Amino acid sequence: MATILLTGGAGYIGSHTCVALAQAGHRPVILDDFSNAAEDVPDRLAHLLGSTPEVWRGSVLDAELLARLFATHDIAVVMHFAALKAVGVSMQRPLDYARTNLGGLMTLLEAMRTASVHRLVYSSSAMVYGLPETIPIPEDAPTGFANPYGYTKLAGEQLLEQLAASDPRWAFGILRYFNPVGAHASGLIGEDPADIPNNLMPYIARVATGELPHLQVFGDDYPTPDGTGIRDYIHVEDLAEGHVLSLQSLMRTGQGHLLNLGTGQGRSVLEVLAAYGRACGRTLPHVIAPRRPGDVPILCADPTRAAELLGFRARRSLDDMCASSWRWITRRQGD
Ligand code: UD1
Repeated sequence: MATILLTGGAGYIGSHTCVALAQAGHRPVILDDFSNAAEDVPDRLAHLLGSTPEVWRGSVLDAELLARLFATHDIAVVMHFAALKAVGVSMQRPLDYARTNLGGLMTLLEAMRTASVHRLVYSSSAMVYGLPETIPIPEDAPTGFANPYGYTKLAGEQLLEQLAASDPRWAFGILRYFNPVGAHASGLIGEDPADIPNNLMPYIARVATGELPHLQVFGDDYPTPDGTGIRDYIHVEDLAEGHVLSLQSLMRTGQGHLLNLGTGQGRSVLEVLAAYGRACGRTLPHVIAPRRPGDVPILCADPTRAAELLGFRARRSLDDMCASSWRWITRRQGD
């Protein structure tokens, strides 16, 4: 049983990965400052796992805390989820994004080096493809960024590449997420934005509960079959399983990898809205609004490399994504 440190392990993707890791026989240790995670996540994880995972409350920028954590645990691999991720906010606060996302990564890597822990799974994003030229997007497509958030993700990847080139003991699993959505099948953990959501599925969920009157569809004049934007939505439980496979590959081979995690299948805004309507049992209202600045028409992963290298295949359907989201939302309201 390997001990795995999950920074940001109480957050949306971290908490689902925590469950998948424990179910695969590993021991997760969570470090989280709870700046974007609910206080009751450890209890919910305990309910799911049968025992409370070890949780350290603190920041990845706290070098002293990290030193203590590594000194007292035999960490085999680190999974680094802790980061800021709101694209719009990043444009107002680029320095905060650099400090948390890049400063956090550097502080963590320094602590790892001191503790002789050299394996890390890194949360990257399809954002690093900027405005993609080819769809579906393979990993060797050109990279770029259009906002400070994307800059921090790409710069983080590049730092890891330089580090790996400097010393063969380092091995990194760089995972470029497409659009993670949905919730755990139990309905016990899921995405929980504090404010009005920016992202599509959490927004639709609030329309389904009646908290928001309708979805604003940002543009219906894109060059897509129904005119609305297309994304590669991936169920968060599939994403979590991808992390376990990445970890196992790092531990088995000692070699790093850079992979897309997506389904390879693009879905339009209207398709997602219709699927959510099926999940909650009523047609959900929408209005057509102007395009959102900075949006690209289509983003879709080429998932071939993850399939070949890790045997990873996203198994869950769009209907599963919506049904699990709805189960989580309605269960949470009943708590
Ligand atoms: C966003 C983030 C990206 C992050 C990803 C995963 C931005 C610009 N990008 O990507 O960094 O990795 O989420 O969560 O925030 N849409 C509507 N109405 C809405 C909300 C969204 O029509 O109220 C449309 C968008 O125009 C887009 C699609 O839904 O076509 C998906 O949007 P969203 O969920 O925000 O994801 P991305 O923009 O792809």
